[in-house]
Amino acid sequence: MNDVGLDSRQAEALAITTRAEEAQKGLLRFLTCGSVDDGKSTLIGRLLYDSKLIMEDQLKSLEADSKKHGTVGERIDFALLVDGLEAERQQGITIDVAYRFFSTARRSFIVADTPGHEQYSRNMATGASNCQLAIILIDARKGVLTQTLRHSYLVHLLGIRHVVLAVNKMDLVDWSEERFEEIVDLYRAKTTNLGFGEVTPIPLSALEGDNVTLSSPNMPWYSGPVLIDHLETVDVAVVRDDAPFAMPVQWVNRPHMDFRGFSGTIVAGAVTPGDAVVVAKSGKPARVERIVTADGEPGRAVAGDAVTIVLDQEIDIARGDVLVDPKARPEVADQFAAHLFWMSDEAMLPGRRYILKLGTEQVAASITTIKHKIDVNTQEERPGRTLDLNEIAVCNLHLGHAIAFLPYAQNRDLGAFILIDRTTNQTVAAGMVTFGLRRASNIHHQHVDIDKARRADQKAQKPCLLWFTGLSGAGKSTIANILEKKLVAQGAHTYLLDGDNVRHGLNKDLGFTDADRVENIRRVGEVAKLMVDAGLIVMASFISPFRDERRMVRDLLEPGEFIEVFVETPLDVAEERDVKGLYKKARAGAIKNFTGIDSPYEPPESAEITVDTTSLSAEDAADRILDYLKAHL
Ligand code: ADX
Repeated sequence: MNDVGLDSRQAEALAITTRAEEAQKGLLRFLTCGSVDDGKSTLIGRLLYDSKLIMEDQLKSLEADSKKHGTVGERIDFALLVDGLEAERQQGITIDVAYRFFSTARRSFIVADTPGHEQYSRNMATGASNCQLAIILIDARKGVLTQTLRHSYLVHLLGIRHVVLAVNKMDLVDWSEERFEEIVDLYRAKTTNLGFGEVTPIPLSALEGDNVTLSSPNMPWYSGPVLIDHLETVDVAVVRDDAPFAMPVQWVNRPHMDFRGFSGTIVAGAVTPGDAVVVAKSGKPARVERIVTADGEPGRAVAGDAVTIVLDQEIDIARGDVLVDPKARPEVADQFAAHLFWMSDEAMLPGRRYILKLGTEQVAASITTIKHKIDVNTQEERPGRTLDLNEIAVCNLHLGHAIAFLPYAQNRDLGAFILIDRTTNQTVAAGMVTFGLRRASNIHHQHVDIDKARRADQKAQKPCLLWFTGLSGAGKSTIANILEKKLVAQGAHTYLLDGDNVRHGLNKDLGFTDADRVENIRRVGEVAKLMVDAGLIVMASFISPFRDERRMVRDLLEPGEFIEVFVETPLDVAEERDVKGLYKKARAGAIKNFTGIDSPYEPPESAEITVDTTSLSAEDAADRILDYLKAHL
C-alpha cells in the first residue's frame, strides 16, 4: 500500500511515530459515516486530492481511468481513487478498515475509511474506536435516513462527541438553502438526546468541490466554515494522561534469562519508574523499575505510548492481564451489562457461545439476556429475544472467566469489545461495557470432599455422556432406550434425558425457534454435566440441530467424556416413518420451524459414533454403541 492507504498495522505504527507531530500540529482522527452512494468515496478522494497528497503516478492513472469509465465526463472521478484502494484492501479479508493519512499546513489527519453499504456499520464500529470526530454524510436528495440515525447512534455509543453533518450533493437540489435547513432541523430534532458536544452542519458538493476545501460560489447564503477549515481548527483536545494508569499486556517480553518485561500500549494515564502498579485481576503489587521503548528509556510514558515495563519483582502476569494504578483497579467480573451492536446476517442467539475480545483478553462469552432493544429512529426501548443485523440492544453477558474492564464511558480501550463467531471467525458484534454485574470474587466454587471420581468408584463405572443427535423420527430415543436397558442389565447406573420429556418439565417454557433450541441444549448440557459429575452414564436424546451448541456441551465436559452419536437417517426416510405424524403436520404448515422442513439441521462433522438406521436395526445400533463403550471406557 502507498502512503495514502495504510493497513491497520501500519496505521498503528504511524499512530506512535506521529506522536511528536501530533504534539506540534495536532493530529485529528476522524471517520466518515455514509455509504458510497452518499458520496463517501468522492468526499475522501476530494480531501486527499485537494490536499495534494495523491502520488503523481496514481493521479495519472486516475485521470486515465476517469476518462475510460467516463462516469463524470472530463472531470476526475474521485470515487475511483478510493474504490481502487478498496479493491486492494479486499484481498486481505481481515482488514475491513483502512486508515488514510494526509496532512495540511495546519494539521495532520487519519481518516478511518470503511468499505461497503449496509455492512458498513459493522466496519464503522471497528474503525471508529479511537476517532475524535465523525462526518455524517447525507445525500441532500434523500435527507435523514434510518441509516443516518443508526450511524449517529453508533457514533454516540462510541463516545465521539464532535459531529460534522455533511449534507452532500447540494448541486442536485439546486443549492437550496431551504432543503439544507430542513435536513439540519430534522437531524437535530432526532439526535438531541445523543449528547453530541457539537454538531456542525455543512452544505457541500464533494463532486464539484463546493465547501470541501474552497468556499462555494453557489451557496452564498452559507456563512459557516468549509469542511477542511473546520477539520483543521476544531478543538478536540482531551487530556489523556490525567486518568489513572492502565496498560493491557500484549505480550511478555523475555528475550533472555536476565530480562522480563511486559509490552503493551498504555491506554490511560501515565507511568514513571518507581510507580506502584498492580495486576488488575489478581491484585498482585509491584513497582515499575524501568520503562523501555524503541528509542531508549524515557522518564515517563503516557497514554498512547507503546512501552515495555520492567517490574521490581517476579509476579505472575500473562497476555490479557492489565497493569494498573493500585488506587484505581478496574472492575473484575465474569458478567457485565453492555450495549451490543449486532453486525452479522445470522441472528444473535442468547446462550450461544462466542469469543469475546476486550483489550488483549480473549474469553468465551454468551449473551444471557437481552434487556431491551433500541430503536435508532426514536431511541425507544423495545422488547426482543434475538438481535438481527444492525440492531442495537442492552444485554447482559456472561464470560467463561473473570476479566478486568472499565465502563466504556470511562475508558474506550478497556470498555470496548467485539464478539467473534467460533465457527466462521467473523466479527459478529461490537459492544460497549455499561457496568459490571457481579464481582466474580463474590461467587466461589465450594469445595466438596466427595467428588466425581469417588462417586464413579462407588458405582464401579466410568461416567460419560452419550449425546444422540439427529432428525426428529431418526430413531434416537428408540436406540437410547434399548442401550439403557442393556447397560442396566450389566449393572450400570444410568440416566436417559429425552427431548420430549425434558420439554414437559425443566424446559416447558421453550419452543422451537433457533433461540429456544439453543437454550434447550444449554440447560440440558448443564444438567447432563451434573449427572456425569454424579457418576452416571448419561444418555441425552435431542435433535440438537446446531453444531455450536453440541460443541458447547462437549466443552463443558472433560476430554473423552462426551461421546457424540449421530443417528443418521435421511429426511425422506424419517418423513416416511413419521411415527408421531409431525412431518405431515409440518408439511401442511400446521407446525412451524420443523427441523428438516423449515428449520435447519447441521449434521456432525466428526461424531465419535455414526449409526446409519437405513442399514442397521435399532438393536444392532445399540450393540455398536456398547462395543464402542467397551473399547473406550
Ligand atoms: S431440539 O431441536 O431443541 O433439540 P428436542 O429434541 O428438544 O429439539 O425436541 C424435539 C421433539 O419435539 C421432536 O422429536 C418432536 O417430537 C417435537 N417437536 C415439536 N415441534 C417440533 C419442531 N418444530 N421441530 C422439531 N421437533 C418438534
